[in-house]
Amino acid sequence: MSVPLLAPSLLASDHANLAAGARLVASFGLSWLHIDIMDGHFVPNLTFGPQTVAALRKDSGLFFDVHLMLDEPHRFAEPFAQAGANLISIHAEPRYDHAGTLAHIRALGCQCGLVLNPDTPAAVAEPFLTQVDLVLVMTVQPGFGGQSFRRDMLVKIFQLAEWRRERGLSFRLEVDGGVDLATGPACRAAGADTFVVGTAFFGAADPAAVARAAAGW
Ligand code: DX5
Ligand code: ZN
Repeated sequence: MSVPLLAPSLLASDHANLAAGARLVASFGLSWLHIDIMDGHFVPNLTFGPQTVAALRKDSGLFFDVHLMLDEPHRFAEPFAQAGANLISIHAEPRYDHAGTLAHIRALGCQCGLVLNPDTPAAVAEPFLTQVDLVLVMTVQPGFGGQSFRRDMLVKIFQLAEWRRERGLSFRLEVDGGVDLATGPACRAAGADTFVVGTAFFGAADPAAVARAAAGW
């Protein structure tokens, strides 16, 4: 199993000082930054655009893990790749050419990921497992930080980890939503290796301690 990787979510940082949030992450020796992109349609909230990501890129060498919560992600792969994304994840739920968009993200020089909402079964990701660098299991309904972790998602994580093992695949298995010092280890035990942490990182009295703890999950 791959080493556990913490991907702090910028959504929970101070939006008047996003670059400082990214610098804080890097200062703890972490390498990933999770960036949530919302369109107000696929999810009932709005966040950042490619221009924000490009501005952060000038200031940061972190691996930008860009989570597109968009109805039409295929229209935005290129702008986010040009803005400096390293990995672009797209949701399984909207109707568009998923395989074609994953291939397009690759062709743009980025890694690609597929995201499953809580109500979307693991089987929906199955046809794409050989094509992706990462599968992201949402452990809350996407749209907002600070929600409670859904323990019923552990079985989905376990199933995806089983398929990965049985088939000799190496995609990362990421969890996002309500992940903290209590729920992170449960996700790890189910087979996750990449942990998006928003509120429990940026809202922590000592985020460095969270980073240290996650390294031992
Ligand atoms: C929610 C986002 C998450 C969010 C997680 O739609 O995809 O990345 O930042 O925040 P926490 O860790 O607070 O649940
Ligand atoms: Zn996210």
